[in-house]
Amino acid sequence: MTIENTEDLFVEGLQHVYYTEQRLLDALSELEESSSEEELQEGFAEHREETQQHVERLEEVFEAVGREPEAAEDPVVEGMIEAHEEFVEKEPSDGALDRFNIAAGQKSEHYEIACYGNLTPMADQLGLDEAADILERNMREEQDALDELATLGEQFDYGRIEA
Ligand SMILES: [Fe+2]
Ligand SMILES: [Fe+2]
Repeated sequence: MTIENTEDLFVEGLQHVYYTEQRLLDALSELEESSSEEELQEGFAEHREETQQHVERLEEVFEAVGREPEAAEDPVVEGMIEAHEEFVEKEPSDGALDRFNIAAGQKSEHYEIACYGNLTPMADQLGLDEAADILERNMREEQDALDELATLGEQFDYGRIEA
């Protein structure tokens, strides 16, 4: 699509985050399955459920802007998924993989926060108040997920790294 105005720019960003959220549904399942610690598994499972909501909320944002929901491939999330696959191939210990998964989760939350942090003021600029509220709601849940992961990272027992 050509980008000729603020609305085009907004929709372009929306299509990428819509793609990203859908790919994160797969990624969060993978993070859950590849983690060993129960608290971590539960955290990923819980955020996966929230992510399902994020996808649905984005569909409401498309509606608010009068567009059909459409996903545009986002190389950033693909790169993050690829980085995880490459790490798993190195056959890390359970502890090392858990620690990697915490960091991987944090990176994806930071990325989502950056996406929503830019889309929300654009929605405001376009006078799409409801859309801005919805985007902000997603962003708050990303922030909470990030905080939880950061805590797990800080409390991590590095004695678990050695196989
Ligand atoms: Fe999300
Ligand atoms: Fe997230």
